[in-house]
Amino acid sequence: MENSIRNTVLTWYANICRLLLAVVFVFSGFVKANDPTGFQYKLHDYATAFGLTAWVSESLLLAAAIGMAALEFALGIYLLLGFNRRFASGMSVLLMLFMTPLTLYLALENPVSDCGCFGDAVVLTNWQTFWKNVVLLLAAISVFCLRGRIVRWISRHSEWMVSVYMLLYICIFSYYTLKHLPVFDFRPYHIGADIRAGMEMPEGALPPLYETIFVMERDGEQKEFGIEDYPDESWTLVERKTILKRAGYEPPIHDFSLMSMQDGEDLTERVLADSSYTFLLVAYDLNKADDGYTDLVNEVYDYCRAHQYQFLALTASGEDEVEQWLDRTGGEYLFCGVDETTLKTVVRSNPGMLLLKEGVVVNKWANADIPDEYQLVASLDELPLAKVQVHSVMSKIFTCLLWFLVPLSLILMLDRIWNFSGRKNKHDYINPLKNKKVEMRKNIVAGNWKMNKTLQEGIALAKELNEALAADKPNCDVVICTPFIHLASVTPLVDSAVIGVGAENCADKVSGAYTGEVSAEMVASTGAQYVILGHSERRAYYGETVEILEEKVKLALANNLKPIFCIGAVLEEREANKQNEVVAAQLASVFSLSAEDFGKIVLAYEPVWAIGTGKTATPEQAQEIHAYIRSLVAEKYGQEVADNTSILYGGSCKPSNAKELFANPDVDGGLIGGAALKVADFKGIIDAFK
Ligand code: 13P
Repeated sequence: MENSIRNTVLTWYANICRLLLAVVFVFSGFVKANDPTGFQYKLHDYATAFGLTAWVSESLLLAAAIGMAALEFALGIYLLLGFNRRFASGMSVLLMLFMTPLTLYLALENPVSDCGCFGDAVVLTNWQTFWKNVVLLLAAISVFCLRGRIVRWISRHSEWMVSVYMLLYICIFSYYTLKHLPVFDFRPYHIGADIRAGMEMPEGALPPLYETIFVMERDGEQKEFGIEDYPDESWTLVERKTILKRAGYEPPIHDFSLMSMQDGEDLTERVLADSSYTFLLVAYDLNKADDGYTDLVNEVYDYCRAHQYQFLALTASGEDEVEQWLDRTGGEYLFCGVDETTLKTVVRSNPGMLLLKEGVVVNKWANADIPDEYQLVASLDELPLAKVQVHSVMSKIFTCLLWFLVPLSLILMLDRIWNFSGRKNKHDYINPLKNKKVEMRKNIVAGNWKMNKTLQEGIALAKELNEALAADKPNCDVVICTPFIHLASVTPLVDSAVIGVGAENCADKVSGAYTGEVSAEMVASTGAQYVILGHSERRAYYGETVEILEEKVKLALANNLKPIFCIGAVLEEREANKQNEVVAAQLASVFSLSAEDFGKIVLAYEPVWAIGTGKTATPEQAQEIHAYIRSLVAEKYGQEVADNTSILYGGSCKPSNAKELFANPDVDGGLIGGAALKVADFKGIIDAFK
């Protein structure tokens, strides 16, 4: 009971942590892909702060920005859907182990004011970022340790398609936002923004107060001074620091000022107050600006002259660069000098273009989207491109979701149709990206005769099966588990190279006064090689507990018998969605074994509601739980042992459904009850491996 409460709590905890990580990663990957240039600028700030600018080029930073977006998005989707759990949780731990100390350093030293984890969508202070990362690190470690409990929301054979499509999606989205502009514009210059309103201080608000500290040195001694007590010339300046003395309100737009480069006139108010339209060509650095679309720029300029609209170019470059640009492109427009960071914030494209009316951003274009003469066919009042068209955030989110979900669902549907129209081979079903169905583990079909057949009938059945398999060799290991009294007679009758023989139970005691019991040693002395342990009927009718079964397993192994260890939930447990917890608890009987001993056992998953009832688990249900059981084994003994463990399915397995069940990558054969009592049926199931 206590065990099951602990299991439930751990499973909930693992899945809450996994969802938290998944949502954060999907969001942060997506907002980075929404604005790769913005994250590239942020990485540039990091490179500057750490003195790495000489080592990294702009294109490398851009590639890193897109790579980071794709990695976070992929980890988020893996965690959200619950596949590639080891990779996703392991990578999350590594990522957070890197980010957490880094953000602690940022919080302490402040070399970069905002970490940029969520682009401009959510701006956190450095300390908030650090504590957020501490929480995510703990969640990542928990998910890694409890990854076997993560509930999977996608079938195994669809994984690779989701991986491929998800990467395609995020890379195409990054490319789209790079070529055009961010789909979601979180900056203060978004379409519809009133620049003058963005510059206003609310009434009564105080601006932030900064203080400059001078670190001075004299005779090897360093001391800090303020502006009031600035020392005499005997001190030399080592460093100047600006510290925030009082936090205050900083309007979202605080450095939008347009200075004519021709005569130094301040044109800010003239532009913002213009009741007509103004086009602004924005190029923060003319040396880096793409001059492939300058014909379009010149067309807009000519259009402005014809219609008496203002046209200004804004840059942070110097006069020489401006002159070279005008020479190179044939431009005739006036340039204004503006702060570089401001221009990078105004529009991500270099160059990009803005259309303003009365200080409101009416439209915004990336370089390649600047309107051409075919669009500028009338005065702006008559053109839709000069009307503010703000698409609601919800409708954009909806569009992005549709672009993700609709093609993905179509791919998955096509795959289903393809798979269910004949391509039933297990190996075709396997993820071609991984393509690593481990062939070392054995496929086994084992019969459990239960309390059926007299000695004579049993002998006849064994003989008949032996003949059938001699005539037509099986493609898997075959085992028959018989009542105790048959063992000594049946074992010498069958070809041991083709058919293994086993008991259906053995005692939990070595030997002695245990009337009616049969020990593992006695079973082994008949020549039998296997023993079924933990069958649900023995658990239900003979009170076999986890502890008793642990003893039985150990004794079987000590006598060189191979246990076929059964686990499975009853109907009520399944209906309460507790099957994972139940099998995890039942495995405790074998999880005390050494890895070497565990390697000798075979597991059999038998949903109790399917035994002898004619109801079978669907291939998807069987695969799902088999994969979960294998993940528990991997968690306990490592992937190699898990990959080598045969996990059989039992419960109304018949020739008609065996092939479909065994086609699953984690179903390695069956433990057969009723259908093992007739050679034709049993052979039909064995032939599923042909
Ligand atoms: P059936 O195949 O008769 O459902 O029995 C399964 C079983 O219990 C095998 O051990």
